[in-house]
This record gives sequence, C-alpha cells and structure tokens, in this order.
Amino acid sequence: MKLDVVLGLQWGDEGKGKIVDVLAGNYPVVARFQGGPNAGHSLHFEGKSFVLRSVPSGIFRKDATNIVGNGVVLDPITFKGECDNIAKTGIPVTERIVIAKKAHLILPTHRLLDAANEAAMGKGKIGSTLKGIGPTYTDKISRHGLRVGDILAPDFPERYAKLQDRHITILNQMGYECDPHAEDAAFMEAVEYLRQFELVDCEYYINSLLKTKEILAEGAQGSMLDVDYGSYPFVTSSSTACAGACIGLGVNPHQIGHVYGIFKAYCTRVGSGPFPTELFDETGEKIRAIGHEFGAVTGRPRRCGWLDLVALRYAVMISGVTDLIMMKSDCLDSFETIKVCTSYIVDGKPSDQWPFDTFAEIQPVYTEFKGWNTDLTHCRTEEELPKEFREYIAFMEQYLGVPIKIISVGPDREATIMR
Ligand code: IMO
Ligand code: MG
Repeated sequence: MKLDVVLGLQWGDEGKGKIVDVLAGNYPVVARFQGGPNAGHSLHFEGKSFVLRSVPSGIFRKDATNIVGNGVVLDPITFKGECDNIAKTGIPVTERIVIAKKAHLILPTHRLLDAANEAAMGKGKIGSTLKGIGPTYTDKISRHGLRVGDILAPDFPERYAKLQDRHITILNQMGYECDPHAEDAAFMEAVEYLRQFELVDCEYYINSLLKTKEILAEGAQGSMLDVDYGSYPFVTSSSTACAGACIGLGVNPHQIGHVYGIFKAYCTRVGSGPFPTELFDETGEKIRAIGHEFGAVTGRPRRCGWLDLVALRYAVMISGVTDLIMMKSDCLDSFETIKVCTSYIVDGKPSDQWPFDTFAEIQPVYTEFKGWNTDLTHCRTEEELPKEFREYIAFMEQYLGVPIKIISVGPDREATIMR
C-alpha cells in the first residue's frame, strides 16, 4: 500500500486541516511528519470548529489511527492542552493517537530561547511563532535533544535538568531575563500524561501498517517555509517538502503514492521574508477581510497578495506534486479582475525562477483574468462552476502541468468539489 502526502505549497495556512479531514474519510491512518505546534490546522464540521497544532487532522474520524511521527517536535504542555480540549467532546484521544519515540521534545526553555533569539535579532527577526521550534530542531541537529522515548528512562528528570542547564547558560549569555523554571511542574505533569499514549518505533510501526493500509501524511507549514528550499533564513526549521515525509516517518521514497499539493487562490504569509505579490492596498485588505486571514495560532494579521504561480511551480517541482487542491476560491467571488503572477523581474532582469537571494528586489509580472462575480459557495459539482472560473483554473493547470483535482469553495467539509 502507499503513503499519500498532503503538502502546503505556499507559506503555510493553505487549508491543510480541512483537506486532511475530508480525505481522512478514505484513510485509516493519518500521520504528521514534521513541524510542531507552530502549525494551526483549522477544521469545521457539523457546526463545530477546531484548531489542531500537533494532533493529526484525522482525530475526528472514527477508527482512524493518528501518528505523531519522528520528524515532529512535540511540546508536552501544549499537546496535553490540545488533547484535553478534544477529549471534552468525547473523543478517546489516547486511543486514537500513537507517538514516535524518536520525536524530539520541546522544553519550556526552548520556547524561551526562541523568544530570546527573536528579541536579539530586532528588526531582522524571522517572525517565529515562538513555540520553540527552531531551538528544538537546533538541539536535534547538534545532538543535544531529548526525545519522546527518553521519558521512559528512570533518569529522565536528570536528563531534563541537564538540557535545561545548557539552555539557561545560553539565556544568561544573551542577557534574556526570564524564569526558566516557571513551567517545570507543568512540563513533568504533561510528560506523565504522554506516558498514557502508545509510544512506538515509528519506522517499524508505519511499515507494518503499510502492508495492509493506505496512510495519509499531513504536512505542516508550506514549501516556501522549507528550511532548504524556502526563503532562507525566513523559514521554519524543518523539511516541509515531500521528501520530509520519508525522513519524518521512516518510509522509503518508493512507498510514496499521491502527492497532494494545496494552495490558496491567493497568497498569504505571516512573519517576515520575501513575498513578491504582496498587496499593500485596499485589494490586500479586502482579501484579508473576506478570507479571515488572521493567524490561527498567533492571531497576527496575515500579509495578503495575488497568487504567485512562479513560486507555486517551484513548489510543485520540489515535491513532485501529482494532484493539486485549490482552496478558498470563493474568497475571490467579488473581484472584477483577478491577477496571477506568471513571471518576475529580479533585480531588473526577467526571470521565471524563485531567486536564491532572499533580499533581491522581486517585481511580479501579472496575467489578468476577468472575475466570475458569482457566489461559488453553493457549487458542489464542476458543472455548476462559472465559465470564467473554469478558464482560470484551466490556465493554472496548463502553467503548472498538474491537474487541479479538488476545489474548495468554503470552510466546511461539505463545501468541496472533487474533479
Ligand atoms: P501551518 O501548518 C503559517 C512561519 C512563522 C515564521 C516562520 C518561522 O498552520 O500552515 P517557526 O515558529 O516555525 O520558527 O516560524 O514560519 N510559520 C507558519 N506560517 N502557517 C504555519 O503553519 C506556520 N508555521 C510557521 O510565521 O514566519
Ligand atoms: Mg497556520
């Protein structure tokens, strides 16, 4: 059986939660493979709304197994809060989630380091979600990290204290004022809670499941935030592209099936970094208002702009996307003209590639489309879609060389057109 992958192709917040929830009906297993509580995956169904951070978006599907993979960084405190919240609705959370022993733990002092790093960078800051993601992956790569499986060791409290001491030394060197012990008790209580879950050797566990079951891997963040291929250094600290699913779950590349790439009909970005099609005018304001573009995790207003097909084609290439999924098409219902960026002028020279230099001056070159000016939210079949809209998506499929298989026309599970 295959591991199908769902990936965000822009700067995150493409609507991965909704699509994983929709697709999870067909998959008995859903797995997160990278990122951590910097993610905010929103789900809407039966009049209820949830924002998931570390919990895979298959949690509300009966009989689905949800795996927190080894590539994830897990904050026991936020994870417990999230699970408590879901458990209140009667979902048997501890039965539906298994956690990789090799996933790394986010300590409270990782969050403090994140804040200290950002404060030290001043105006050049990344705009991190301050969840401790960067410092935790830093410790993983520099071989100082603590992993979920370590909580089973009798000397876990000593290992925790040792890593915490290391963090305190750095915080002191940086002159960052804080109480590094403020969350010690909450952390140990949350670690106790983690012990209720099945902790697994993810690579064996998932390979054994793949003998009989299709698995859906749920990406977090987006391709343009990938630590290698995104707009470095304004990126997250994990591999958000398809290859990250292999590393983050312990599956081999031959096991990958469909690669679903999700994008919004426009672009948004939270935090700093290049965004060629960003709008600073009332059109940008209008997109933000209609699309409710405010961070699900931080509440920050998102930067908004037109769709960037140059960046999207780059993301499709990096991950070998087989099926595109277009979100929030309905948010453009009331625009007379719709623009898409089809090439750039980079430092004065025409280009159709995402540039290496993050600080280059990138001017978008647009192709314009006549708006459809029709309410798409009630459409449920392709035939109901207006002609202008169909022309617009045909253009994108031609440009990207990949079919758009799913079109979302509203936040609810039901507002989805399968092509
Ligand atoms: P989902 O999964 C949007 C952004 C942050 C910041 C940069 C680095 O909901 O799409 P980090 O906390 O990871 O060190 O922040 O990445 N960022 C996201 N933006 N959606 C996300 O997740 C994000 N996760 C991180 O705003 O610019
Ligand atoms: Mg988000």
